[in-house]
Amino acid sequence: MREEQAEPSRIVVLISGSGSNMQAIAQACKNPENDANIVAVISNRPGVAGLDRAEEFGIPAQTLDHTTFATREEFDINLIRAIDEHSPDLVVLAGFMRILTPDFVRRYKGRLLNIHPSLLPKYKGLHTHKRALEAGDKEHGVTVHFVSEDLDGGPNIIQAVVPVLDDDNEKSLQSRVQIQEHIIYPIAVKWFTEGRLSMLKGDAYFDNVALPETGLQLTH
Ligand code: GRF
Repeated sequence: MREEQAEPSRIVVLISGSGSNMQAIAQACKNPENDANIVAVISNRPGVAGLDRAEEFGIPAQTLDHTTFATREEFDINLIRAIDEHSPDLVVLAGFMRILTPDFVRRYKGRLLNIHPSLLPKYKGLHTHKRALEAGDKEHGVTVHFVSEDLDGGPNIIQAVVPVLDDDNEKSLQSRVQIQEHIIYPIAVKWFTEGRLSMLKGDAYFDNVALPETGLQLTH
């Protein structure tokens, strides 16, 4: 008797801008090794490049403009509705520049991922490249983590370390970090959709083993 095939994992990606991480994940989903599809891309900003990129991949893309809602809560309730229409297994924040309400985070607990351009827990928040340069750090990087109710504070899954060069400026450092973003986000998404990642009591697990605070670390 033929074994029943599970349906491919359904991913909804939230963006606010260029969508290059969404594109890296969409590209990875085309690989037959990956049993997952991005079923929808939702942007909180109209007219951003990420919406066009999604269309190029044939992915349904929609805008839910946060400025048309009176409160953060109202926006998030409508965002939940828009996401849940696509019955996702995983929700991926890819350059989604909004602080989420606790209700939103709780709804997708354990299946909500984010990418942040620093070696978390260092440099939560904005201007991470500038802050790493100003501090004279020799290493910087990027982290994919589960989302918890603390901003940029959920458990780390994977980190790529990027050396800071003597002649680096914010732009050069950012572009080398972005190259790594496009490598580690598809890896984390693949692990999740293969059922190898989980979050339990605030810790991240890979193949049922608790990950270190850094997450799995790739060094260059
Ligand atoms: C990335 O640098 C990511 O680390 C940060 O926002 C940026 C999004 O870029 N959270 P893109 O929209 O994926 O091109």
